[in-house]
Amino acid sequence: MTRVTRRYRFAASHRLHSAERSEAENSELYGKCNNPYGHGHDYILEVGVRGQIDGSTGRVVNPLALDEFVRAAVLNVFDHKDMNRDVDSFRDVVPTTENLSLDVERRLREGWCFAAAELDRIKLQETKRNSFELKGL
Ligand code: NI
Repeated sequence: MTRVTRRYRFAASHRLHSAERSEAENSELYGKCNNPYGHGHDYILEVGVRGQIDGSTGRVVNPLALDEFVRAAVLNVFDHKDMNRDVDSFRDVVPTTENLSLDVERRLREGWCFAAAELDRIKLQETKRNSFELKGL
């Protein structure tokens, strides 16, 4: 079993605001991230896959095919978008990076087209101090 990680970048904006809570509660809960006009991040996404090395290609997964898949399934959905307005899954879900990680996992699973490699791990870095990881997938 070999694990392979590819890294991607995308820029997106969000506002952390829960419709179930009052303005004051939102302000206290999310601080500056509750700013009505939102703010952006340069996200770094790591996609980890696992599998056996193919004897003829010497690879676990074709990285160019994986890049194309991740671009279509995730990067094109989020890059230079306002998550609260432009991405349907965040109309009613707070676009924290915890929730973004789950949404990215769902999108990758739905279209997964690599028979010999399994999705293993997702890591999303939001800032230099924040990152979120889904392991044991
Ligand atoms: Ni933020």
